[in-house]
Amino acid sequence: MKKTQNQMLIIFGASGDLTARKLVPALFNLYKGNHLPDNFVVLGASRSPMSHEDFRNKVVAESEFLKNKLTKEESSFIKTFSDKIFYEDLGDKYDVSYSLLANKITALNEEHGTAGNYIFYLSTPPSLYETIAKNLWEEGLTKEDHGWKRIIVEKPFGYDLASAKALNEGIHKYFQESQVYRIDHYLGKETVQNVLVTRFSNSIFEPLWNRRYIHHVEITNAETVGVEKRGGYYDKSGALRDMFQSHLLQIISLIVMEPPINSDAEEIRNEKVKALKSLRIMKDEKTILENTLRGQYVASTIDGKTMKGYREEEGVDPDSTTETFAAVKFFVDNWRWKDVPFYVRTGKAMPTKVTEVIIHFKTPHHEVFKSQDTFRKDNKLIIRIQPDEGILIKFGVKVPGLGFHVEQANMDFYYSDLDSAKIMDAYERLLLDAMQGDTTLYARADEVEAAWKFVDPILKCWSESSIVNTYGYSVGTWGPKNSDELIEDSYGWRNPGDLLTDESGFCVLC
Ligand code: BG6
Repeated sequence: MKKTQNQMLIIFGASGDLTARKLVPALFNLYKGNHLPDNFVVLGASRSPMSHEDFRNKVVAESEFLKNKLTKEESSFIKTFSDKIFYEDLGDKYDVSYSLLANKITALNEEHGTAGNYIFYLSTPPSLYETIAKNLWEEGLTKEDHGWKRIIVEKPFGYDLASAKALNEGIHKYFQESQVYRIDHYLGKETVQNVLVTRFSNSIFEPLWNRRYIHHVEITNAETVGVEKRGGYYDKSGALRDMFQSHLLQIISLIVMEPPINSDAEEIRNEKVKALKSLRIMKDEKTILENTLRGQYVASTIDGKTMKGYREEEGVDPDSTTETFAAVKFFVDNWRWKDVPFYVRTGKAMPTKVTEVIIHFKTPHHEVFKSQDTFRKDNKLIIRIQPDEGILIKFGVKVPGLGFHVEQANMDFYYSDLDSAKIMDAYERLLLDAMQGDTTLYARADEVEAAWKFVDPILKCWSESSIVNTYGYSVGTWGPKNSDELIEDSYGWRNPGDLLTDESGFCVLC
């Protein structure tokens, strides 16, 4: 295991919920697991005036994870862990002099022996990224003469291609690309990383991983929750920006990419960029209309309980046409994937929480048992990203008895069956990687831009075209009825644990 050097983590926007919900619990687990270096300090910086003590109490108290799961032994760790946490007020508009912050960092560095190694974690609106980077640079905090300096930025990384480019340019004025870590928490999920291992460490899948044997690829990302308290942010974003441009295109790049020459970060990222660049960009309105679909959840009654529609959510415009569901069909223009359709959908307020990739293999060229088959014969490889993390293979077996009746059987692997199956939380893994200087699971500038390049024309068409509709779907269903028309008739979407179907019919929101 790599050694983690002594260092300081400086979190901007530290009073926001990410710190208490994700970062502090992740750091606490790393501490418990003995992954933090001997000398380690967290400095929270934010707009609210608070003492160190208030901040410690706040992040520990608000941290559901710490509250719920503390064993006696863990409680004893809390005190020593909290002693590593400090706070600095940055003023209402992040306008308090950064020299105060710089002094605090220098003092903590000397006192705690963090060797001038700093990670700046920007959990602020992206509009502040450049300002913060500039101020750090002006205070000499980005110089790598004494210790390394890294910057982690949260998603959303841009609103479209132009703003993503502007963000990259802004950050690059003060940090080299090798110092920049763009976080996408899906890359921290074991099962997402396992796509690489499944593909490239086995000889049974890769020979079939191409247009000759694969009929189509299907990806579903569904959440049961609606937009919860994030209506204000979400209404300006929508499913395509929030999930597809980032998390889903990351998964897609791992499915599509060519084998890297080794497992070095740059080699893997080079292949991912190539993969993203090979997605066929939809250029005109007709293509976009035929291959994409946007939906929005509407109120429904489940088990006698009335569920709010999207437009009734806090912070959402009552006339909003923002999509909470998006489905996209696309092709990949390269040697491996020519003519293989990819169908991807993502939605909130759906029947179950699931993310899975389904590789649908072609049926055998010559169907020997055709007349006696009772089930579809196409083999499927299902990569369950979450929950029930694992891999399922569906294949034909003979039904016992006379004749050659074929049925589908399952070969099912669950991560939880592994002896060493402690799956690290995504933030734990990603923070540890950044602390160790490993950029493999972080998105590079050109990767993010390539993803926006694909998504941009769709967003533009959706916002400008007079004939694009947002279709309604009842809470707790698999999206608008007409999303079924996007995928080939005889296949349809795989709806895991199908619970409800949309009885509300076809509904266009104007
Ligand atoms: C976030 C999105 O990036 O990912 C949220 O902004 C979404 O809208 C979340 O709910 C889903 O993450 P996970 O890990 O629960 O699938």
